[in-house]
Amino acid sequence: MSHEEFPTDNPAVVTVGLPYANGDLHVGHLRGYVTGDTVARSLRRVGQQTAFVCGSDMHGTPIAVNAAEAGVSPEEFALEYHEEYAATFPKFNVEFDNYGHTHDETNVETTREFVRSWIDDDHVFEKEIQVAYDPEADQWLPDRLVEGTCPYCGEHARGDECDEGCQRHLEPGEVEDPVSTLTGNAAEYRERDHKFLRLSDFQEYLQGFIDRVEGTDNAKNQPREWIEGELQDLCITRDMDWGIDYPGEGGDAAGGDDLVLYVWVDAPIEYVSSTKQYTERVGSEEYDWEDVWTVEDESELTGDDTGEIVHVIGRDIIQHHAVFWPAMLRGAGYNEPRAILATGFVGIDGKALSTSRNRAVWADEYLDEGFHPDLFRYYIVNGSGLETDVDFSWDRFAERVNGELVGNLGNFCYRSLLFAHRNYDGTPDTDVSASVRERIEEAVEAFETALNDYRIRDVGATAIELADFGNEYIQRNEPWKLVDDDPAEAAQVIRDCVQLAKACAVLMQPVMPEKAADLWTQLGEDGSVHATELADALAAPPAEFGEPTELFAGIEDERIAELNAKLQERVEEATEDADFEPEPLADDRIGVEDFEDLDLRVGRIEAAEPVEESDKLARLEVDIGVERRQVVAGIKQLHDLDDLPGTRVVLLANMEKAELFGVESNGMVLAAGEEADLLTTHGDVPLGSKIR
Ligand code: MSP
Ligand code: ZN
Repeated sequence: MSHEEFPTDNPAVVTVGLPYANGDLHVGHLRGYVTGDTVARSLRRVGQQTAFVCGSDMHGTPIAVNAAEAGVSPEEFALEYHEEYAATFPKFNVEFDNYGHTHDETNVETTREFVRSWIDDDHVFEKEIQVAYDPEADQWLPDRLVEGTCPYCGEHARGDECDEGCQRHLEPGEVEDPVSTLTGNAAEYRERDHKFLRLSDFQEYLQGFIDRVEGTDNAKNQPREWIEGELQDLCITRDMDWGIDYPGEGGDAAGGDDLVLYVWVDAPIEYVSSTKQYTERVGSEEYDWEDVWTVEDESELTGDDTGEIVHVIGRDIIQHHAVFWPAMLRGAGYNEPRAILATGFVGIDGKALSTSRNRAVWADEYLDEGFHPDLFRYYIVNGSGLETDVDFSWDRFAERVNGELVGNLGNFCYRSLLFAHRNYDGTPDTDVSASVRERIEEAVEAFETALNDYRIRDVGATAIELADFGNEYIQRNEPWKLVDDDPAEAAQVIRDCVQLAKACAVLMQPVMPEKAADLWTQLGEDGSVHATELADALAAPPAEFGEPTELFAGIEDERIAELNAKLQERVEEATEDADFEPEPLADDRIGVEDFEDLDLRVGRIEAAEPVEESDKLARLEVDIGVERRQVVAGIKQLHDLDDLPGTRVVLLANMEKAELFGVESNGMVLAAGEEADLLTTHGDVPLGSKIR
């Protein structure tokens, strides 16, 4: 069924994936927060009551480990980043109505309520499972504390996610050949009782949900495979101290160790808690969190009486939001998401951003370079479609700013307002012409349609397109000539242009709120542009206003060259990897028979192309003399695929076949290290030669 169009009579909430309180924010994180802020502002623009909430994700193994390394408590460690984030978002004009954190009282309480309600409805069970254990460190190894091989695709994986391969969420005990990240030693699997949320209880519900949910195609389509296959139950507890205690019986499990909830249990619940806190602050008359999040009974979910929940996330956490989270909500009798918008990833030079390697452009750094936040917002929202992976590039940033903002939008508003101010002291005293009124109405409609289709880039483009029209209009009519020849006509043209500029302010506000407010002030408007709705694009501008100033300043080539050089240097350093530490040598010796089991052949890459929808995988065709093999390898971001054909490689020919993203992989290409340095041959033995 399709949902009623925005604006609806129900309140909406827009959320963004919570940042782990574990390191500085970079431009990759900002993509989601800026997109979410733009969506929330756009919804308000069409008259939808909207709250915009988020919070810091305080739990999980990396925070516990980093805190221990820093010699402080996890709480202290995470709170420091939490405060940093809360201060950084407004600097990018990302204005949450509430920004909480997962360790605050509201979230601890709400999380317990959720879990208790699953227990009461019999959706939770206990099972003995294999959990990785480090005998030397004498501790359990949940999630990121263990690494190994993904059982689904054979790539290197973290304990709870196959981050380099098929991107699947992994359950405790699944990763093969587990190695402790604490000591680098092989980990043991030991038996341990844990609590599970029975996801299979929600299979039918989820199938209905995935048909109903709106948003980006990746979020609607990828989860089908998981929902339609066998739904694996979700282990909701971990052997750790840092987290929210498991609230039911067994919270004090055998052996006296406490179980805490898995970080992905309390994290999305913060969306609810943060909305609650907003209501607590403004009062339920103004905004009632219950109207959004709660439902009387399941039948409401398919009707029009529930609030509108819109989640903005990065595409790495689609499974959590489109499978686990709706089941968690349903299990506790809550409303379901109306839409999930999953953005593509931001990288640099074809590689993923990395906090630990300093391969990033940092949020603070961008501001320290002296750039206005709205320029970044425009670049990241309008530079590509929502789902597209992009490389951050100062060149493209400058191109957009200089072309679309300075050359088009800024130029049009400045020349129109300047002419109006000089010749008429403000808006000429006549009505806007019918054709220009129509053009503005079209823009308003385009805004509404794009928003309802979640094409956020197109929402932002409406102002730019209107300015484009305005520039042509003024150029064609040459008011500077008309002032003497036909003063009435000149006044009409400028009247139209001032209206177009005002409409631009109204339409650009979701993407560039501060610049829109500047333009609003220049127009002599006394209210706030943030309080306007789309219809105000057509209201008459003030009769008087002062001399305008340029809205945007151009970025010079030398400045960009300087920024490029700085970034390039950093990327190279990150790749050199000064802190490289080789893994410890294997203890167990093998015989020559073991080696001979490996059918290693010399091959040559004939073709290389990306596997769509995967950010790591590439499809290779390798000629191994005897035959041509198709192989899927996790090297998409590590090599320029166009350069690969012709490269001689070593292929493990008797590797078990696997299927990744629907592509069969028949063999394995050998590569070394984090950068997947491909093994090749020194001479030119024929293809197919066996390696011994
Ligand atoms: N804490 C979890 C989310 C819990 S939501 C209930 C998490 N945290 S994160 O810090 O790793 O990421 C925060 C948000 O930023 C997520 O939406 C994530 O997808 C997004 N991104 C992180 N790196 C990104 C890029 N390089 N590019 C685009 N989005 C990125 O995941
Ligand atoms: Zn995998």
